[in-house]
Amino acid sequence: MATYNTEIGSDIKKAAALLASDEVVGIPTETVYGLAGNTLREQAIHRIFAAKQRPLYNPLIVHVKALSEIEKYAYNIPALAYQLFERFSPGPLTLILPKRDLIPELITAGKPDVALRIPNHPLTLELLQMLDFPLAAPSANPFGYISPTTAVHVQKQLFGKIPYILDGGACKQGLESTVIGFVDGKPKLHRLGALSLESLQELIPDLELMTKAANAPVAPGMLSQHYSPNTRMFLLEDLTEALQNFAGKRIGIISLSQAFSTIAPEWQVVLSENGDLEEAASKLYAALHYLDSLQLDVILAERMPEIGLGAAMNDRLTRAAAKFV
Ligand code: TXA
Ligand code: MG
Repeated sequence: MATYNTEIGSDIKKAAALLASDEVVGIPTETVYGLAGNTLREQAIHRIFAAKQRPLYNPLIVHVKALSEIEKYAYNIPALAYQLFERFSPGPLTLILPKRDLIPELITAGKPDVALRIPNHPLTLELLQMLDFPLAAPSANPFGYISPTTAVHVQKQLFGKIPYILDGGACKQGLESTVIGFVDGKPKLHRLGALSLESLQELIPDLELMTKAANAPVAPGMLSQHYSPNTRMFLLEDLTEALQNFAGKRIGIISLSQAFSTIAPEWQVVLSENGDLEEAASKLYAALHYLDSLQLDVILAERMPEIGLGAAMNDRLTRAAAKFV
């Protein structure tokens, strides 16, 4: 694989030219940064998988510029899918729909369905307008590691592996999109995400969770270990109690709103002083990246209230900690 002097910039034309020549580019979205390539070109898709060291059985989300594009890539679209997209797009909602033949099997890991989303970031929407193909993009992290919410996170993790990262600032929402599929026309939740369950329940009061068995073989959003820092990490109900168990260690803390006088201020991240879960979600991955860079003995994260975006945060924290249990 070529090695690049990975640059960060805000030159959309440059990003578009690279993408049009099958290169892979880091792109901002409202959720996390993506590792984008031309959906319709196998060379570009192979480069995404290679840069990310992602196993080929994990399908990629296809990003389109507008609702009017959906029918180019999917068919047999349930009325509910349109209602969901109309209500929540552009935004952090991904729908899994039967794919048309022009979507390569490499994108869907051989499955007959494709995941589609309309991202809500002005730079990336402008970029999509300039291109005559949709952008396949997984989160721009090495497989299994913490998702990036700034261009610098992407650069640190993928330096040399991609030519360019389009800088759109820090991601406003900071958690991946919520993924929904349909089984016999019935919606099923594949992955909790930046669109809360409560918001979805306004349209789908009885939304059911997709079970692992029914979703075989494997989808990355459902892997039990994912999103992990290198530093040992635990997810805990009560940090005060846990601090005693790690006495004498270099401890990093992630809490919703509480600060701890016994821990150095630079080793603790309070996600939202007011306990606002949206603010907290937007800072979660940056907190993990930051604390992981300090080479501490352990990171202790506080379990969030299981409401609103707290549920998706707990989902990510649980999987981040799973490797260490
Ligand atoms: O917010 C997001 O969704 C970000 C930004 C960049 O758009 N992307 C992202 O992609 O999180 P990734 O590859 O890290 O996660 C893809 C998720 C997985 O949970 C996978 O299960 C699901 O999308 N997925 C993609 N294509 C699928 C398909 N054809 N069938 C079932 N699940 C699919
Ligand atoms: Mg990911």
